[in-house]
Order: sequence, then structure tokens, then C-alpha cells
Amino acid sequence: MKITVLHGQMHKGSTWNITQLFLEKLSDKNTEINEFFMPKHTPSFCIGCFNCFTKGEDKCPHADIVQPVVNAIEEADLVILESPCYVLGMSGQLKTFLDHMGYRWIPHRPHPKMFSKVGLVISTAAGAGAGKVTKALKDNLFYWGVGKVYRFGKNVGASSWETVKSEKKSHIENDVTQMAAKILNKIGNVKPGIKTKAMFKLMQMSQKSNNWNPTDKEHWVRNGWLNRNKPW
Ligand SMILES: Cc1cc2nc3c(=O)[nH]c(=O)nc-3n(C[C@H](O)[C@H](O)[C@H](O)COP(=O)(O)O)c2cc1C
Repeated sequence: MKITVLHGQMHKGSTWNITQLFLEKLSDKNTEINEFFMPKHTPSFCIGCFNCFTKGEDKCPHADIVQPVVNAIEEADLVILESPCYVLGMSGQLKTFLDHMGYRWIPHRPHPKMFSKVGLVISTAAGAGAGKVTKALKDNLFYWGVGKVYRFGKNVGASSWETVKSEKKSHIENDVTQMAAKILNKIGNVKPGIKTKAMFKLMQMSQKSNNWNPTDKEHWVRNGWLNRNKPW
């Protein structure tokens, strides 16, 4: 199994430690883990040139730093996005990378492999907001086409992992164990849900009449998605 992890921060706090707990429960000797830490691995903001949408992702001025991360996502069986909650949202550095994935959204050029992947989104907050972050991260994976997404958000009542109460840590560990077991059962058995299928159908109709973006349309034609082919 291949796991790709996008860390929304460079430091090893509560969010990183919970992600490590998941990786320990999910891995065995055959597991390949690719980790990217933001902003080290994608320091460049989207400049809004629209090149990825209209000319192709290789025409993004930051393609050389963005594409290795995109390739690792597309090769993975499990994609993990994680971020601490900052002012009721994800970290800016993770959002910086996610903006670069706009061209991979279902309305544009979703990668066919996405629909059979599993996603896991993780966030911690001190008191409130972890749920908002996991919702936003799940939305991104949904629009990439990821077939099944698990959410793990915890309000840890602390500013560091060291100061999280031990009782809370043991609850977290139990919850991680249960969710990791579900994830392992799901890998290799994903069929996208009705919401993904409906979104795909809607965008298929839109692409049939697409006379505004030949780059997107060509992707749908090449995959056979304007005929009967489906990516699942
Ligand atoms: C800039 C900043 C903004 C934050 N905003 C929130 C917030 O909106 N809600 C909240 O409950 N905690 C907030 N926190 C606290 C962190 O989300 C919380 O301590 C989290 O567990 C830190 O995760 P980490 O240890 O992985 O960095 C904020 C922390 C920082 C540094």
C-alpha cells in the first residue's frame, strides 16, 4: 500500500502526532509512505494565471515544485491531508498547495485513479474549529473525486501535544485505532458514493457542451467519459 501525506505545517505538534498514530496503525513492512511538509514542499502561491486550466498543468509557473506532489497523490492508495486549525480554517500553507489542485477538480480534469482512492483528513484545534477544517479538507478531496473520505477532527484543549491531557490522548488513540481499522478494510474496495456520481454526471453534461476550454474537454474525450466510460 502507498500512503501520501500532506502536512499542513512543519512542526511536530498535536496534528502531526495524531497523524503519526494513524501511520503506525495503518502501516506494515510493505507500506510506502511519502510525506510532504508545507510550505517546504510547495512554497509558491497560485498567481491566478489560469495556465493550468487552459493550457495544461505543465504550464503552471510552479509546475516543477507542484507536480512531484501531485504525482505522489495520484500514485497513492490512501491520501492524508492534515492541518492544525488556524482562525477557524486550515493553515495558509496547506491552502497554498490545494489552490494548485484546482485543475484536478471534477468540473475540470479529475484524475481517473482518484475515484477508487481512500482519503483521510485530520485536524486539531484548542477549543473550536477542528470540524470546520476537516470539512474543508474533505470538500477538496471530494472535488478531486476521492471515492471515500474519513474525517478525524479533535479539539485537544492545548497548544502543544505535550500539554494534551493523558486521558484525552488515550481517547484519541482508541478513536484512531477504530478508524484505522475501517480505513484498512476500505482500501482496494472503494466505490464512489451517490454524491460523487451525481457531480460527475452533472460535469459530464457540462463538458458535452464545453466550447470554452478545449484542454478540459480533450481530457474528458480522451478518457471516454463523454461516451459510456466511467472512472469507477
Ligand atoms: C495562528 C493560530 C490560530 C489558531 N486558531 C484557533 C482557532 O480558531 N480555534 C481553536 O480552537 N484553536 C486555534 N488555535 C490553536 C490550535 O489550533 C491548537 O492548539 C492545535 O491543536 C495546534 O495544533 P498543532 O499542535 O499541530 O500545531 C490556533 C493556533 C494558532 C497558532
